[in-house]
Amino acid sequence: MEIKKIMVIGSGQMGNGIAQVSAQAGYEVILNDMKEEFAEKGLANIIKNLSRDVDKGRKSEEEKQTILDRITLSTDKQDAKDCQLIIEAAVENFEIKKSIFKELNGIVGEDVILATNTSSLPITDLAAVVSKPQRFIGMHFMNPVPVMKLVEIIRGVETSDEVYQVIEDLSREMTKDPVEVNDSYGFVSNRVLMPMINEAAFTLYESVATPEAIDQVMELGMNHPMGPLKLADLIGLDTCLSIMNVLYEGFNDPKYRPCPLLKKYVAAGRLGKKSGQGFYKYD
Ligand code: CAA
Repeated sequence: MEIKKIMVIGSGQMGNGIAQVSAQAGYEVILNDMKEEFAEKGLANIIKNLSRDVDKGRKSEEEKQTILDRITLSTDKQDAKDCQLIIEAAVENFEIKKSIFKELNGIVGEDVILATNTSSLPITDLAAVVSKPQRFIGMHFMNPVPVMKLVEIIRGVETSDEVYQVIEDLSREMTKDPVEVNDSYGFVSNRVLMPMINEAAFTLYESVATPEAIDQVMELGMNHPMGPLKLADLIGLDTCLSIMNVLYEGFNDPKYRPCPLLKKYVAAGRLGKKSGQGFYKYD
């Protein structure tokens, strides 16, 4: 199973980061989204990141160009035909992800590896929609993808050892540190992180402190690089809410009840940094 060409589906903050680290590792990359303008926005972010690397002397202009030359944009999943790996990074919604994999199942051969960057949904349930679940796997990157070292790799019940090994090796090629976990709602990362973010939202909701004070407590007191509310804004409040709902419904346990303030902000379109406002305001 030699990987040469990768399609990344979804060009949002996770998808364009995954496309960037894939191209940096030397792979040909197709960045796919529903609309050309979305894919172009994703590419613009990659260019911004690579230009910063050039400005900081970490890459030459030629290296930047070589990386960019490996990336093509697409709005047609049929372009996945000559890829050996598909990494899906669409919105955190089970039905949407399922329909993407159903469509891909009819396009690519059975030896193509299908990976999902889901942050909480069960890998085994998603794998069930494709004809050969042995080639299905969870490949969970962290935000911001070019910076964070972790890739959480999740095996579905049927995932083959060979596919697992290919994805572990590929993660190292991307200069990431892979960690293997089992398939469970939220895996390890969001089983532990999201209840903390949700609890921070509850402390704000109950007027225990201001957003700044809550974040300062965790930054200064626990040495977190950014406080939980700032981090929630970076991740996206809609994504945080989706993950809390997956934990709440999946485990059927009230301890995962999403904070009403989180729900209210999402309903109001305050999705965090990407929409210009979340717990904080952004220019
Ligand atoms: N894209 C690319 N590079 C970025 C970036 C981005 N969005 N944001 C920051 N960077 C780079 C900066 O360029 C900078 O590098 P240089 O100084 O060498 O140029 C470096 O990261 C540090 O950035 P800053 O100095 O601006 O700020 P910082 O020191 O506070 O670091 C941070 C920023 C790396 C985001 C840091 O605050 C941090 O680690 N925060 C926690 C992030 C985290 O927990 N992520 C996981 C979220 S959970 C998740 O993603 C999973 C899920 O399913 C929800």
